[in-house]
Amino acid sequence: MFSFPELAWLIAAVCFIFSLGGLSRHETSRRGNVLGIIGMALAVGAAFFAGIEGGHVLLVLALVAGGLGGAFLATRVEMTAMPQLVAILHSFVGLAAVLVGLSVYVSDWHPLEVINEQTGVQWIGPDMIHKIEIFLGVFIGGLTFTGSVVAWGKLEGRISSKPLMLPARHWINLAMLIVCLLLGWWFLQSATFTGIWPLILMLLISFVFGAHLVMAIGGADMPVVVSMLNSYSGWAAAATGFMLSNDLLIITGALVGSSGAILSYIMCKAMNRSFLSVILGGFGSDGAITSTSSGTTADGAAKIHTSTNSDDVASMLKKAKEVIVIPGYGMAVAQAQHPIREIVELLQENGTRTRFAIHPVAGRLPGHMNVLLAEARLPYDLVLEMDEINEDFPETDVVLVVGANDIVNPGAQDDESSPIYGMPVLEAWKSKQVVVFKRSMGSGYSGVDNPLFYNQNTDMLFGDAKKSADEILQALR
Ligand code: TAP
Repeated sequence: MFSFPELAWLIAAVCFIFSLGGLSRHETSRRGNVLGIIGMALAVGAAFFAGIEGGHVLLVLALVAGGLGGAFLATRVEMTAMPQLVAILHSFVGLAAVLVGLSVYVSDWHPLEVINEQTGVQWIGPDMIHKIEIFLGVFIGGLTFTGSVVAWGKLEGRISSKPLMLPARHWINLAMLIVCLLLGWWFLQSATFTGIWPLILMLLISFVFGAHLVMAIGGADMPVVVSMLNSYSGWAAAATGFMLSNDLLIITGALVGSSGAILSYIMCKAMNRSFLSVILGGFGSDGAITSTSSGTTADGAAKIHTSTNSDDVASMLKKAKEVIVIPGYGMAVAQAQHPIREIVELLQENGTRTRFAIHPVAGRLPGHMNVLLAEARLPYDLVLEMDEINEDFPETDVVLVVGANDIVNPGAQDDESSPIYGMPVLEAWKSKQVVVFKRSMGSGYSGVDNPLFYNQNTDMLFGDAKKSADEILQALR
């Protein structure tokens, strides 16, 4: 039969599985969140009754400190700084796996009842399977810890986002891996507490390994790296679950590990990058650091763009029958989603079919735009994924590009020299008229110029996207 904590953990695991299922769709995301909260409350509550001898005061203190810290951070962090927060939280999971691994190894050693007269007290330690779990948990935890700290530093701008390209860096990584394997062999063979030495040596190498892996990746690939570290932190948690014989941690860790890996794969696909090229690093400097918007053609002539104003955009919208809004990172920065929602409501009342086109990597984190639009309470049926709407642009009268840039860059389709060549993009240029809300002719995240801005059917609406949207709203009323 199940004990109370085991039963609670089983229910919590089921809640987490349904939570992930719910989070995969807008309509069910709230339910997914609620299930996640219930699962977590059950898990923490059951841990309290799980026979922690004398540790209840410490547990309450840790819960209060962690809960208050989490609540404080969650209320203060900007949506645009979410990747950094996620990265630093992963580092905690990695560090926890390291600390649990070390403490399990130390506490597993105990004296044998029988005292041998020649050898004195005999000690026995963890068995082989347990040792493998400890070694793996400490290794993954160590590299997740330093890798996440470096990812946080790069996203926060504390560490240069330029990839660190040490000569023979792949060989250095391989050498570190081989040394860790040899240390693992030594650790497994150690019949005495001296096994702590290979464990600590491996931990130090895993710290360097994690930091070096992420240092070699440029700022542009950091969101993929964060999702990859998310996956590592899940495997670290699963390894911790094995060490502590805790089924819930094993299940939760496996869920986080596999969903992080799937998310990294989806992001790479949407950016036309191979997963391996991201992990091996050195590519992330694409554009973002090296190139800027030149505003000139190949033969040096100035490229011409036309600009418009809010009143003209409002009258253009009044006449339109089909409108598509493409939100991007700039909409998040400007927090323009609320006036945009009001514009869409007015247009719908006017009989204009208005929809949103969401690129899978619009913004800076997966689902960034969906979260903003949900926050502005936009009906989900107006929000379409790239594949669902990309063919509709030729029949569209007006496309509003709100703070987006790379995701509407035609160079991704026809300029083989572009760093983002091959990345699937929203084909806004095929519509009758495009209006781009942004503050300057500056480039987007990838740092490359956008030929869309110089098209005859494109008008630039310069200024903060929220201010522009507010003005259009006034004019429409
Ligand atoms: P970006 O290409 O970064 O362009 C955003 C544009 O917003 C900028 O050109 C900027 O131009 C404008 N902007 C900034 N603040 C603004 C404001 N207050 N008002 C109006 N405009 C403002 O964004 P995107 O099109 O969403 O593309 C996302 C990029 O991030 C892609 O390159 C993608 O590969 C990368 N990325 C995304 C993810 C995920 S998961 N979303 C992961 C990794 C990488 P001005 O400065 O001129 O205003």
